[in-house]
Amino acid sequence: MARFIDELKRTHDCGAIRASDIGKEVVLFGWVQIRRDHGSIVFVDLRDREGVTQVVFDPETSPSAHTVADQLRSEWVIGIRGVVRSRGEQFSKKEGKLVSAANPNLPTGEVEVSVLEATIFNKAETPPFAIEDQSDTREEVRLEHRYLDLRRAPLQKALRLRHRINQATRTYLSDNGALELETPLLVKYTPGGARNFLVPSRLHSGKFYALAESPQLFKQLFMVAGYERYFQIVRCFRDEDLRLDRQPEFTQIDIELSFVNQDDVFNLVEGLIFTIWKAAGVDLKELYPSGHFPRLKFDESMSKYGNDKPDLRFGMPHVDLTELVIEHDGGGIPFWQPLAEKYKSGAFRRDLPPEIVKALVVPASANLSRTEADKLEQLARSMGAAGLARAKVGPDGTWTQSPLAKSITPEMCRAINAATGAKEGDLLVFQSGRASLVHTVMANLRVHLGKKLGLIPEVGHGGNWNFLWVVDPPLFEYDEDKKSWGAAHHAFTRPHDESVPLIESDPGKVLCYRYDLVLNGFEIAGGSIRLHDPDVQKRVFKALGIGEEEAQEKFGFLLSALRYGAPPHGGIALGMDRLAMLLSSTDSIRDVIAFPKTQKGTDLMSDAPSPVSPGQLAELRIRTIAET
Ligand code: AMO
Repeated sequence: MARFIDELKRTHDCGAIRASDIGKEVVLFGWVQIRRDHGSIVFVDLRDREGVTQVVFDPETSPSAHTVADQLRSEWVIGIRGVVRSRGEQFSKKEGKLVSAANPNLPTGEVEVSVLEATIFNKAETPPFAIEDQSDTREEVRLEHRYLDLRRAPLQKALRLRHRINQATRTYLSDNGALELETPLLVKYTPGGARNFLVPSRLHSGKFYALAESPQLFKQLFMVAGYERYFQIVRCFRDEDLRLDRQPEFTQIDIELSFVNQDDVFNLVEGLIFTIWKAAGVDLKELYPSGHFPRLKFDESMSKYGNDKPDLRFGMPHVDLTELVIEHDGGGIPFWQPLAEKYKSGAFRRDLPPEIVKALVVPASANLSRTEADKLEQLARSMGAAGLARAKVGPDGTWTQSPLAKSITPEMCRAINAATGAKEGDLLVFQSGRASLVHTVMANLRVHLGKKLGLIPEVGHGGNWNFLWVVDPPLFEYDEDKKSWGAAHHAFTRPHDESVPLIESDPGKVLCYRYDLVLNGFEIAGGSIRLHDPDVQKRVFKALGIGEEEAQEKFGFLLSALRYGAPPHGGIALGMDRLAMLLSSTDSIRDVIAFPKTQKGTDLMSDAPSPVSPGQLAELRIRTIAET
């Protein structure tokens, strides 16, 4: 072993050798991918991070190396010295003649290395699954042995992509005047926002740090401190329910800028996205010649697509029928009547519609069978809907195949056909009730149908990059249960100047400079222009019912800092893992994180979280209580 590494240094990686190297002596290190014994000659596919090279052990060339080859098994780690040669020709039974032995699927496929000397650095137990590009091994097994899973090409590709994203980001933001600065991860707990992970303090028993859910407050303090432009590629922690695009610890590309407006933030981020996509080998200039992404107002997004992250790779917008239903007193549909009455009697506010009616047209071309339509209803029910009313449009515009057809008034039927543009053979599906539920159910149905009808791929993005800024959301959100206003995002977002007079009189109409960047239905970034004016800040707190004492307790140091000459500032954070996920054409964020947690927040490899000893708990003065 000493001769290899100490004397014999690696000359090439296993992906580098080409026909032009024929005749050269090379030293390769790597893992045995496959060993094939062809009588006396042993072939090994030797793999390292960069690729695979075929190496050949022939007893006539080197009896000692051949003895080594005899023992080799998958995933053993070896070193070889040998001479590069052409793969030559081999007899093809199929073609009945000699054909080239080159493997056109491998960059090194024209050559092989005839081994003169070999060493075994280390043996390996038989791995629980084969190290192959396509693996049908259960994800749990792969996560338990992540160090083996990480040897597979798709994961290596994803992690290299992350590397390139990080490099491109650092260069771009640094070139644009931003300083890479760090912020603490152990911070003070502040209520609101995502749920925090708590970390007990040993030195201050009974007290806790929180793991930062983002550097938000600290990056604003950098602006107050005059650092003008900041960025950080930073780990954030949120104790939320996990989904395919969510992890409890994830990485943000976090940015904050002084003396900017919304357009300035967008310009910088658009440039960053172009740069990152370029680093991943995609030129967005062809799709977005202006260099800018389209914008959609939040209200329009909710109304047409049911959420603030619409996938605009396809159409099929929702049609809000609430006003029509009110106008037609329910239009003969029994379960729409009470809703219309409540609006008419003033029990429901029209500017804050607690209940709505929406329709979606499934085009005739979809040719949905009855069973498939029933499946749509099941899907709606699985999301908490009571059902999914539907009707097929007949030749003369009347509705068929639906209980609605019996009671709907002809005027209402015509009005809905006109509003939705539904034509003969189309299927209309309806959802009515609590606004948030209707939006969610219809948003998911739309995406489900988009996939089903082949308008978007089931998984991945097919080179179709649909970016969208969602802008101008309301600053306040009405809480139906508490009957009071809350901050829709956070209380430090700057309202539009023309909205400021409405803070007291009509909070629901106050729009603000908060923005999200959406890509193919995923939220990839979010941020806002911050509220740096203390007077407006006071009025916002008042509207939220936050007294001075409470404000001081919740946001103390930021409020103090803002009083010492805060420049106008704003920022954004991009979900780095989501960028990598989308660029890798996978729909699971776990596929682009080296050591991810499962959907249940566990690490199957290290078995975290785990119990700790009573002694450790005693040191922290913590007592656990049995689960009830
Ligand atoms: P926000 O909460 O919108 O903004 O987060 C920014 C972006 O981070 C990504 N993201 C996540 N990715 C994976 N797993 C998660 N659990 C997760 N949560 C969020 C999303 C999201 O768009 N401080 C503000 C930014 C600002 O205002 O400047 C913030 O954190 O892609």
